[in-house]
Amino acid sequence: MSHKIAVMAGDGIGREVMPEGLRVLKIAAERFGIALDFKHFDFASCDYYREHGKMLPDDWRDTLGGFDALFYGAVGWPDTVPDHVSLWGSLLQFRRGFDQYINLRPCRSMPGIKSPLADRQPGDIDFYVVRENTEGEYSSIGGRMFEGTEREVVIQETVMSRIGIDRVLKYAFELAARRPRHKLTSATKSNGISITMPYWDERVAAMARTYPDVTVDKFHIDILAANFVLHPDWFDVVVGSNLFGDILSDLGPACTGTIGVAPSANINPEGHFPSLFEPVHGSAPDIAGRGIANPIGQIWSGAMMLEHLGHEDAGRAIVDAIEAVLAAGPQQAPLTPDLKGKGSTEALGKAIAEKLAG
Ligand code: NAI
Ligand code: MG
Repeated sequence: MSHKIAVMAGDGIGREVMPEGLRVLKIAAERFGIALDFKHFDFASCDYYREHGKMLPDDWRDTLGGFDALFYGAVGWPDTVPDHVSLWGSLLQFRRGFDQYINLRPCRSMPGIKSPLADRQPGDIDFYVVRENTEGEYSSIGGRMFEGTEREVVIQETVMSRIGIDRVLKYAFELAARRPRHKLTSATKSNGISITMPYWDERVAAMARTYPDVTVDKFHIDILAANFVLHPDWFDVVVGSNLFGDILSDLGPACTGTIGVAPSANINPEGHFPSLFEPVHGSAPDIAGRGIANPIGQIWSGAMMLEHLGHEDAGRAIVDAIEAVLAAGPQQAPLTPDLKGKGSTEALGKAIAEKLAG
């Protein structure tokens, strides 16, 4: 049985790192006997928008709904399409329309990448941020009144549902239960946000009773952010609402080094809809077209996709190959300039593919 993968490279460096992501996936598929069936689409890009006046065709749900996974590059070309148009018209449609209620980001210090935090070594930081991806603070309930007058009022409501909280918590607890440390940290702010956040805490406490083997702690978001910087080694699985998770899932990878290596997954765990895998970084217009973008975020996202599709060994092998090439350093391996090397996107992708092939 083959896995059907929809490939959307998007804009800017998305188009440069995607071929390297595919190169490594093809090698992994050969080595582990996995059948991958790729189909390429040009929508969810600003070029498509310029031609069609929209980011996606009207029938995108039917077109993509039958795929097993979506492999995405990056979206955005602010010179021609405003960022809120390109992002809301593409990625956020997928997240909501395909109920990808988990946003998962590994935060892991890698060999050869210097953490901006002093005295942190590879292996010191190794945790996951699990972000609620569909509700919470990012709601469309609210509005403006008395616009343009002195009485101007704006309101945007936070929406938290029992279903919405419990399902993200369940995912995070399951993940923590599978990991060696069995530890879960909840991001809260129940002192200041006195209605929704105490409710979030209640649901965490209720869920914790079904996972007696998982050690649970919680921090208010302000000190939690500080502790990401001061004590990143404390964390194993960190779960947060849409807003808190958004902030933590940028801060976490930032604490481990370059944004070019960080991967992410937008997951519909039940598999009712395809999940989407993409690097954390954007389309990087400042370096686009020069062939120097780091492809590791894209390649690692491919590893997460294989794990999601049930091929944990293949995913693990890709991450091992990435680590081995990084460990070789900029003298021995064609690392890209963000990693202090002189390699190109393609050369680094090839080096990882060769390492994986063995
Ligand atoms: P960005 O992530 O594209 O770039 C930030 C900085 O990191 C730039 O200096 C860039 O050169 C560098 N960088 C990013 N990826 C790199 C890589 N693989 N290798 C080496 N250096 C890399 O974020 P920015 O500049 O805020 O946004 C640019 C565009 O990307 C905007 O249109 C924005 O909306 C979009 N964007 C899209 C995202 C997505 O598709 N998920 C996420 C973030 C931004
Ligand atoms: Mg973000």
